[in-house]
Amino acid sequence: MSKSARRDLAEPPSGAGADWTIPQDWRRYTSAEHALWDQLFERQIVMLQPRAAAAFLRGVDVLRLGRPGIPDFEELSARLRDLTGWRVVAVPGLVPDEAFFRHLANRTFVAGRFIRRPDQIDYLQEPDIFHDVFGHAPLLADPVFADYMQAYGEGGLRSLRFDSLDHLARLYWYTVEFGLIREGSDL
Ligand SMILES: [Fe+2]
Repeated sequence: MSKSARRDLAEPPSGAGADWTIPQDWRRYTSAEHALWDQLFERQIVMLQPRAAAAFLRGVDVLRLGRPGIPDFEELSARLRDLTGWRVVAVPGLVPDEAFFRHLANRTFVAGRFIRRPDQIDYLQEPDIFHDVFGHAPLLADPVFADYMQAYGEGGLRSLRFDSLDHLARLYWYTVEFGLIREGSDL
């Protein structure tokens, strides 16, 4: 899910910066939370190995998302910076469209920092750190996709001036969100 799509949010919550970011506080994750990440990773990678686009699997690999434990955004961002100039920062939840697009235009991906509860292992509505980082960060390591996401952020900022955000939101939903990608002759 996108962090976007809330026009009624006006001010960042207390503790968040003017750009809506918060520290990840990586040291605060419990060992149970790290173990849950590992469990989620194992389940997903088994399903994705034969199905996912090569660029996605390459991203998982070069970003070393298969290492045990929840990724530290500082380390992850250092790897991304070297590859494509992107970084990942934490936000408290939904952020306004303007802030969301501005981050993308600056090659910054906003991610949830919480991880789901064990009883939510199959599904939860709000994007948690596994959804955002495992689901979206790998393609940010791909130079073409990295440029596309920045252009999308710039387009989003423009769309706000023309009241045509809905079109851009739909584009995001059916490409980035669902991972639609053409590889050779395969979709
Ligand atoms: Fe998402």
